[in-house]
Amino acid sequence: MDVSAHILLVDDNLRFAESLQQILRIQNYPSTIALSGEEALELLEQKPFDLVLLDVDLPEMSGVETLDLIKISCSLLPVIMITGNTTVETAVAAMKKGAYDYLKKPIVHELLKATIDSAIRHAKLKKELNDSEKRFKTLTEASWEGVIVHNKGLIVEGNQQFFDMFGYRKEELIRTHILERIFNRDSLVQIQSRIENGTTGSHEAIGVRKDRSEFPLETRSSYIKFQGQNLRVCAIRDITERKKAEEENLNLQMQLAKASKMEALGLMAGSVAHDLNNILAGIVSYPEILLMGMDKSDKHRESIKIIQKAGKRAASVVSDLITIARGTTTPKIVKNPNSIIADHLSSIEHQDYITKFPGVTILSDLNSNLSNMYCSEMQINKVLMNLTGNAMEALVGDGLIAITTENVHLSESVLAYEKIEAGDYIKITVSDTGSGIPAEDLDHIFEPFYSKKVMGRSGTGLGLAIVWSTIHDHGGFINVKSGQEGTSFEVFIPSTDEEELCSSPALSLNALRGNGEAILVVDDQETQCLTTRNLLTNIGYQAFTVTSGEDALKLYNKTPVDLVILDMILEQGMNGRETYEQMLKINPQQKAIVISGFSENEELAKIQELGVSHFIRKPYTLDQLGIAVKQSLLGALKN
Ligand SMILES: Nc1ncnc2c1ncn2[C@@H]1O[C@H](COP(=O)(O)OP(=O)(O)OP(=O)(O)O)[C@@H](O)[C@H]1O
Ligand SMILES: [Mg+2]
Repeated sequence: MDVSAHILLVDDNLRFAESLQQILRIQNYPSTIALSGEEALELLEQKPFDLVLLDVDLPEMSGVETLDLIKISCSLLPVIMITGNTTVETAVAAMKKGAYDYLKKPIVHELLKATIDSAIRHAKLKKELNDSEKRFKTLTEASWEGVIVHNKGLIVEGNQQFFDMFGYRKEELIRTHILERIFNRDSLVQIQSRIENGTTGSHEAIGVRKDRSEFPLETRSSYIKFQGQNLRVCAIRDITERKKAEEENLNLQMQLAKASKMEALGLMAGSVAHDLNNILAGIVSYPEILLMGMDKSDKHRESIKIIQKAGKRAASVVSDLITIARGTTTPKIVKNPNSIIADHLSSIEHQDYITKFPGVTILSDLNSNLSNMYCSEMQINKVLMNLTGNAMEALVGDGLIAITTENVHLSESVLAYEKIEAGDYIKITVSDTGSGIPAEDLDHIFEPFYSKKVMGRSGTGLGLAIVWSTIHDHGGFINVKSGQEGTSFEVFIPSTDEEELCSSPALSLNALRGNGEAILVVDDQETQCLTTRNLLTNIGYQAFTVTSGEDALKLYNKTPVDLVILDMILEQGMNGRETYEQMLKINPQQKAIVISGFSENEELAKIQELGVSHFIRKPYTLDQLGIAVKQSLLGALKN
């Protein structure tokens, strides 16, 4: 094969050079003569050549020196040394420095042509390889992934991303065996077997950085043939973020499943409670009637009392179920949690517990700068009672219970037992040194009727369900940590900057006092009307009372009022909600408080949609009424 090329002929002997040029012309190679190394370098700067025929024995700058300089500026240019008999050794040495071959004088024509052709072909291949390496480098350097080419772990090439990903400098790894250094033990076994079996495709593994820290990665491998060898090319991707996102997603899904399960169970509990409430009404009230008409010595008296007691106990379970299903309708006021905890610790119920569990020591560490929170005191008290009660029951014999409070600011949401949203909270922690909660129970403890205690003796399994529903009803969250050393329940309730309305009775009366605002009370029971009117006028309000919705509207049409207090169920005519709807047609801004019993929750939900923000449950105290009226007039609070 003829390869046309322009040749630079370097020889100080002009006659020899010209005769060689002649031969080259015959062989179809144009050439240019340079009589010294310096001249050759100048010519090379001026125009491109495809090959250099270089005499070893040049004066001044020797052939080998010239070769060195040519290789610096044109590393891929093929150079064939021309040597006489005395300089063959130098020519061989020149080959080590990058010369392609050498030809001995006198030049054999056929050999000259064959050597030139081969050198040019070789140079062409080398250039192609060089270009392809450059392309590979450009491609891999542009990739986000780390890319390496290796031969059974002996790394041949790698891009910068690969070395950065593992924290090494290129020189530290190149041409070394790397698998043991960049994969952890388990992944190494897998990878070696994949290499042995020639498995390609992608799989996940654990990478090890130079500082020994581990991270999850995904590798994708394939083979390329290079200089007769089968080399493995691996693209490696750091999947730390993806793994984190997957984990968070899974966690969120679990939280969601947990929340909807709680909701479904709550709804079920609520509907059972609704039916039971009606049935229980008879069981709770008839024993009383029977007992009233019964002789003191009647032998059935005790049995009826047992029925009455059981009925009351059932009624209290139903009331708990209603709390779980619908949250609390008691008003929420600004309170400091420390005072609720202090009241709880001195309550009779708590003292009863302490006598039952004499080996238990209770410690409290309450933050003196604790913020306030909006809460139903009664409900938070119930939360404390359930948490401390459970803790005491979990302590076998002696043990410690600690109650602590602190202000907590979460700048971003936290994934704990459930996802706790960012915000400012009061954190109440009740921890014990008890037996702990087994991991398999932990997911279920807040479900209604989930109890590990001996049925009938202690556990109905409603305690923590009440805690859950109460805390969520307060816009809060719960975290649980449990292990062999005990359990802690952390309750997060949103804090507020507002001041407590009434911290002492004297202050409370003042704080609750009105300014002659007009209040219309709608209640079908005259006695209730009277009591409410007395309570309101005593604290400075002007009160009107009516016993039906229709009468209320008649009066309302003539006299506008600042607030309406509506009983939910009215014996005749419109009920509380319907009355309020009519009033809103006259004044859409009308403020109202609703008085409710336990069972009319559907109506409650409807009236809440109309904009009523305060509910009071019968029977109510002056405090409860006063606070609800005050807050409703101020438009301060939603309960
Ligand atoms: N502090 C704790 N230590 C160990 N286990 C606990 C703790 N608190 C709750 N549990 C477990 O969670 C279960 C559910 O508690 P929960 O208060 O809802 O029901 P209960 O205490 O069994 O019954 P109830 O409170 O209705 O009388 C308990 O039966 C117990 O197994
Ligand atoms: Mg309990």
